[in-house]
This record gives sequence, C-alpha cells and structure tokens, in this order.
Amino acid sequence: PKDVGILALEIYFPSQYVDQVELEKYDGVEAGKYTLGLGQKQMGFCEAHEDINSLCLTVVQRLVERSHLSWESIGRLEVGTETIIDKSKAVKTVLMQLFEESGNTDIEGVDTTNACYGGTASLFNAANWVESSAWDGRYALVVCGDIAVYATGNARPTGGAGAVAMLVGPDAPLALERGLRGTHMEHVYDFYKPDLASEYPMVDGKLSIQCYFRAVDRCYATYRKKIQSQWQKAGIDKTFTLEDFQFMIFHTPFCKLVQKSLARMMLNDFVAAPNLDTDNGIYKGLQPFRKVKLEDTYSDKDVEKAFQKASQGFFNQKTKPSLLLSSRNGNMYTPSVYGCLASLLAQYSAQQLAGSRIGAFSYGSGLAASLFSLRVSQNAAPDSPLDKLVSSLSDMEARLNSRKCIPPETFAEIMKQREDTHHLVNHTPHGSKEDLFPGTWYTERVDDKNRRFYARS
Ligand code: ACO
Repeated sequence: PKDVGILALEIYFPSQYVDQVELEKYDGVEAGKYTLGLGQKQMGFCEAHEDINSLCLTVVQRLVERSHLSWESIGRLEVGTETIIDKSKAVKTVLMQLFEESGNTDIEGVDTTNACYGGTASLFNAANWVESSAWDGRYALVVCGDIAVYATGNARPTGGAGAVAMLVGPDAPLALERGLRGTHMEHVYDFYKPDLASEYPMVDGKLSIQCYFRAVDRCYATYRKKIQSQWQKAGIDKTFTLEDFQFMIFHTPFCKLVQKSLARMMLNDFVAAPNLDTDNGIYKGLQPFRKVKLEDTYSDKDVEKAFQKASQGFFNQKTKPSLLLSSRNGNMYTPSVYGCLASLLAQYSAQQLAGSRIGAFSYGSGLAASLFSLRVSQNAAPDSPLDKLVSSLSDMEARLNSRKCIPPETFAEIMKQREDTHHLVNHTPHGSKEDLFPGTWYTERVDDKNRRFYARS
C-alpha cells in the first residue's frame, strides 16, 4: 500500500471551560501570567461523570458515524493515553462495546502509555501494521484521549481534556512520509505519575521545559539527517531548513512554549550552517549568537528573545493557526499535537493545504519524543478525500464558541469532587448529562465491584 496515513479525523473536547483571565484573578497571580506568559485563553475540563473511557467512546462513535464507516471495516484499534483508571483492563476493551452489534471482534491493538506520547506511538503502530504482512486490508483506528488535571498551584492553568480519533489506511490525504522520523528517548523524571491513587502528576515544570527543548533539538537533527540523505540519493543538492516545512505543529502544553520551540528550530538551522548570511534576510542581526552551543541555551533569555523575534514571520505562517484548539481548550496530553493538526485543517481550504509538508513534533515526558512529517495530497478537488477531511473539521470554531464558561470557583469545586470520587466504588459520579454536547458518553454508574457503566446523552 502507498501513502499510508490519516484518512479521517474526529475531535472531542468538553462542553465547558474556565477563562484564563478569571483564573489569574482567582489564583491571585499577576494579570497576564497565564494569558500572555503562557499564551492560554481558556481551559476545558470535565466533571466527574466523564472519564477516559467515555471520552474515547464519544470520539470513536462520532468518527464512525460521521464518516459513514461500517464497524466491520476496522481491523485494528489502539488507544494512546496516560489517564489510567485501571492497571490491567485497556480502554480499547471498553471501546469493543461499540462493535458488539456488528459482531466484529477481530480487531488487533491495545493501549499504549508514556505521558503525552502514547497517541504518536499508536499512530506509528497503526501505519506499520498497514505496511506489514499482518495487514488484512481493513482500516486502523488510532484513538488518543486524556484528562489533564494538576493539583492547585502553578501547573493548574496548563490542564485540559479531550480526545482525537484518526482513521489510518492507504491512499491517505495526509500521508506519513516514509523513513522520516527523528526520535529521541531518555530516562528523566520531569513529569510522572507515581501516585496511583491520584489523577495528578508529580511535575518539575522547569525541567520538563528543558527536556522538551532538548528533545526538539535531537529529533530535528535526526529528522534533517534522514531527509538530507533521502535528498542526496534523489540528487537534490540543497540543505533542509524550517522553510521546507510549510506548516509545523507541536505537542502543546501551553502556546508560548510552542512559539519558543519554533524559534529553537530556527536556532538549530542557524547553528548547523556556519556560513549563513547574517547581514540580510531572516538571520539578519543574529551574528552575536554565531558561537552558541545548543545545549547551553535551554534557559538563555537573550537567545530565546532574538530567535523568537527572527522567527515571528515563520510562526505566524507555519504554526499559529494550529494553536486554535490548544489556546482555548488547553493541553489534552496525548491528543494535543493532533488537535493542532485538526486546528490547521479547520482554518485552511483543501486548495491551500494541497501538496504541503506538515512537520509534527510529539513529546511525552519521561521521556519519548518524535519529529515526523505528513505530506498533504495534491488532489484538492471537491469531494476528494482531502476536501472531505478538511470540511469535516470546519465547524471547530463554532463548536468552541458554543461551550459554557464556568466561574473559577465552580471549576475548583469540580476538581475537588473529582479528587474525592476518583476510585470511589458503588456511586453515581457527579455531573449532569444535560450539560454535555449531544451524543456524548458519560459514566452512569460505578458498581460495588468497581465496574463502570456508560450511557450516551
Ligand atoms: N504578564 C506577562 N507575562 C508574565 C507575567 C505577567 N504578569 N507573569 C509571569 N509571566 C511570564 C513569565 O515571564 C514566564 O514567561 P517566560 O518563561 O517566557 O519568561 C511565564 O509567564 C510563566 O511564568 P513562570 O514564572 O515561568 O511560571 P511558573 O513557573 O509559575 O509555571 C510552568 C509555569 C512551569 C510551565 C507550570 O505551569 C507547569 O509546571 N506546567 C506543567 C508542566 C508542563 O506543561 N511542561 C511542559 C512540557 S511537559 C508536558 O506536556 C506536561
């Protein structure tokens, strides 16, 4: 099969959010810290009756229904998540309820976990399956979902929640470019969840940012090496730079980090090419940074500012449109980078996207990270697969606008309720089904054996 990649994409986010300006006031921090400092506008969150299973049930059902797929046409389904409510039973097995009526039980795949990276691991697995001898001709479905919540304190405004489902198969309008994955993995305690009784992570915020930047550097270096060698074999005599990505999307813990990361990629190009013109063009004025070493610059504010300024045009063109959902819903963890992809598709026409290369950086603390790329098909004709994919996401902004704004006091109470009822047996979790978007799954009951039962609003 050729052009294996993403054929359809569905996104789910909660029907309620807290405003970041109001949250700044409520938390008693300086005005502008969350909005300007972190680049966040709003943050989506779930009441206790939504859990990782209900999020994934919702997004999978929406994808299958809206794409008019048959449940039999799916031969692999896997879930990337770090929202663990059961140490053994995979979310995937809960999703099998949706397939029950069709009789299709021949579906490979289970869950994959490593912080925000599980969705990307699942996407790679799905594409590998389609390209392998195990493939039986059917579609793969990749699901990623998380409820990102932090204890009160400086990390709390960087939460979020949501789920993404992606249909993977051949002849895709967004094809994964073969042989072009730059990966970096290492052992580090930047963000982890050792307390199995709590939804909250242990987080070293500053260290996590440093690790994220290091992963950007390493993944980009490897990606460039691989594409450069492909180009060499094809007789293309040219140095790969940021300009060769028409769009660049990132795992987005908060939007400001993404703008800094794009600037870092420009810094990488700059450091890699000692003969660049610093008198004219995009690198103008950067001569003082000629001798910097990447590993010395993770918290160098002068470098950060200079390259952020120099890359502002790139940011506006290549990355800013992808931050629509992240700025208004927050960090969804595993679906974050795919929410950025959806935001990009929601704001451009098929004609504008056709033929472009989208770079994607996925990061999961702990840590696992990859930079890979998607090639958008040339065919943007009405009713082409690309056109259908793009049109299916065009209501994203309207959906965001239709959510309900909840005051920070109520948000804090709901977080407390989640804490108190997390892992509680024999109860009906808090939350009103009337507050959910129509067609949303929710937990109806947790019985005395901690078995969960779901219903649809
Ligand atoms: N007006 C404008 N900007 C302000 C203001 C203000 N009044 N006050 C502060 N700022 C700026 C700061 O200068 C800083 O920006 P800078 O780094 O560009 O200088 C920014 O706002 C944040 O302020 P800090 O003091 O650095 O924030 P703090 O340390 O309290 O928390 C952090 C930020 C570490 C990101 C925290 O929210 C956190 O731990 N989040 C979770 C971890 C995370 O998301 N890590 C990212 C990768 S891993 C992952 O995805 C989970």
